[in-house]
Amino acid sequence: MGKIGIFYGSTEGNTEDVADKVKEALGDADVHNVDSASADDLAEYDTIIFGASTWEIGELQEDWESFIDVLDDVDFSGKKVSYIGVGDADGYPDTFVDAIGIIHEKIADSGAEFFGAWPTEDYEFDESKGIVDGKFLGLVIDEDNESDKTDDRIAAWVAQIKGELGL
Ligand SMILES: Cc1cc2nc3c(=O)[nH]c(=O)nc-3n(C[C@H](O)[C@H](O)[C@H](O)COP(=O)(O)O)c2cc1C
Repeated sequence: MGKIGIFYGSTEGNTEDVADKVKEALGDADVHNVDSASADDLAEYDTIIFGASTWEIGELQEDWESFIDVLDDVDFSGKKVSYIGVGDADGYPDTFVDAIGIIHEKIADSGAEFFGAWPTEDYEFDESKGIVDGKFLGLVIDEDNESDKTDDRIAAWVAQIKGELGL
C-alpha cells in the first residue's frame, strides 16, 4: 500500500496540531497544508486524509474554500479517503464539523473508497453534515470544549484505521 497524505486547512492551528499528531501516530505519512497544495500533490497518494475545521457557521475553513475545486482535477478511483473534522460542539451545535461533510459531498461519487467512519455517541451536538449512515465521516475533535479527550480520540481512531488499512 502506498503512502498516506494528510491534507489540512487550519485558521488558528487546531486542525494543524491534530494532523501532526495523527501523522505521528501513523508513523509514516506526509502532511500538507491545503494553502499550498495542488492536484499533483494529491495524485501522489493512494490513501488521503482530509482535515478541516468549520467556520462562519457551517462553512469551510478559508483555505479549504480556495482549495476545494482542486478536487475536481483529481482522479480518486482506487484511492482511499477519510477525514478529520475539528469543530466546536457547544458553540455551533447545529453545524458541528460541517466542513468534512461539504468536502465529502464533492467527492462522494468520485470513485474513492471511504474508510475511518467514527461513532457519534461520545459527542453532544444537534446536527452535523459530517455524518453519513449514522457515523461521522472520520475522526472528530473538539479543541474548544473537549481538548482533554483529543489524544485518546486520536489514538483510538488511528488504531481503528490501521486495522481498516491493514497497516
Ligand atoms: C466565528 C466562528 C465560527 C465557527 N463556526 C463553527 C461551526 O459552524 N461549526 C463548528 O463545528 N465549529 C465552528 N467554529 C469552531 C472552530 O471550527 C474551532 O474553533 C476549530 O478548533 C478551529 O480550528 P482551526 O484552528 O484548525 O481553524 C467556529 C469558530 C468561530 C470563531
